[in-house]
Amino acid sequence: MKLLTPGPVQLPKFVTEAMARQQVFHRTDEFRALFKSVVEKLESLYPASAVILPGTGTLAVDTMVYNYVSPGEKVLSLTYGEFGKRAVESMLARGAVVVEVERDVPPAPDEVDDTLRRDREIRAVMLVHNETSVAMAYRQIKKLIDVVKSHGALLLVDSVSGFPAEPLPPEIDVVATASHKALLAPPGASILYLSREPRATSGVPLSMNLMKFIKMKERSETPYTPPLPVLLALEASLSYILELGAGYADAHRERAEYLYSAVKLRPVPPPSHRSFTVTAFHCERPRDVIARLREAGYVIAGGMYKYRDRSVRVGVMGDITIDDLKRVAEIINSVAR
Ligand SMILES: Cc1ncc(COP(=O)(O)O)c(C=O)c1O
Repeated sequence: MKLLTPGPVQLPKFVTEAMARQQVFHRTDEFRALFKSVVEKLESLYPASAVILPGTGTLAVDTMVYNYVSPGEKVLSLTYGEFGKRAVESMLARGAVVVEVERDVPPAPDEVDDTLRRDREIRAVMLVHNETSVAMAYRQIKKLIDVVKSHGALLLVDSVSGFPAEPLPPEIDVVATASHKALLAPPGASILYLSREPRATSGVPLSMNLMKFIKMKERSETPYTPPLPVLLALEASLSYILELGAGYADAHRERAEYLYSAVKLRPVPPPSHRSFTVTAFHCERPRDVIARLREAGYVIAGGMYKYRDRSVRVGVMGDITIDDLKRVAEIINSVAR
């Protein structure tokens, strides 16, 4: 079976082999060397302080919310899919007051500017960089950073399924991501990039208290048991990603563009918003398509959000080839049309 899902993704053999070994005790120099190396590699991919917690994408987003939003604070959510909705849920659980701008495509920076101008109490803006549920990416983050900064608010970004295959401009206040999508490792590490110190001072559970992780990072350690196998995998996958440089994102874009040209179904995202890591197509019989692909050895995903049960999603991350995508497109075309 090959995974062409939006995560977890098909891992290269050199990654699965890197983690298939005995554990390392996390209060030793051996661990410190591994941890330091993984952190340095993460920080070579994005210019901000990287923090690693045991968890998945959801915990990364919750951690961002709990450390940067205090109960009662007003936050603007730019929602254009299911994961935007989940971020709202997280902020409501934190006790924040959420102003939601929900659109079928990513809300433009000008609209954000208008909203922030009208409501001076908004302290932070939450954005999903790559909305996995509808295969859309936010392409105007640079402009959005300027808008949010000009109002003195914080920009909080969920890039769980985007980074680093989807380019991310520097100077985002906080980015939340995870190991098991475009970082080419298994699930188990929540990763945050911090361009400024956590703001919230109380009510943050121990497991997601960033100040504790930041303090221990000074000695290349973690406050609690780290996700060791995932760190071993990241050590290998990050070296590979760094070696490819800009070619890594280019390869993803080429794969997504190939699928949009080869699959004869109507794409969910309009051309200007198409994600480089996951594709989505309207489909009348998603169950049949998914089952037929399974028989041929490929796992893809069903639809989400407004297109649940009416679309299919094909991930283009991981150890896959254009030949796999060709075969997948042929099968989709033969079943769905
Ligand atoms: C954009 C986005 N945010 C958050 C999550 C949640 O991540 P997880 O399922 O790893 O907890 C996902 C998972 O697909 C996602 O795509």
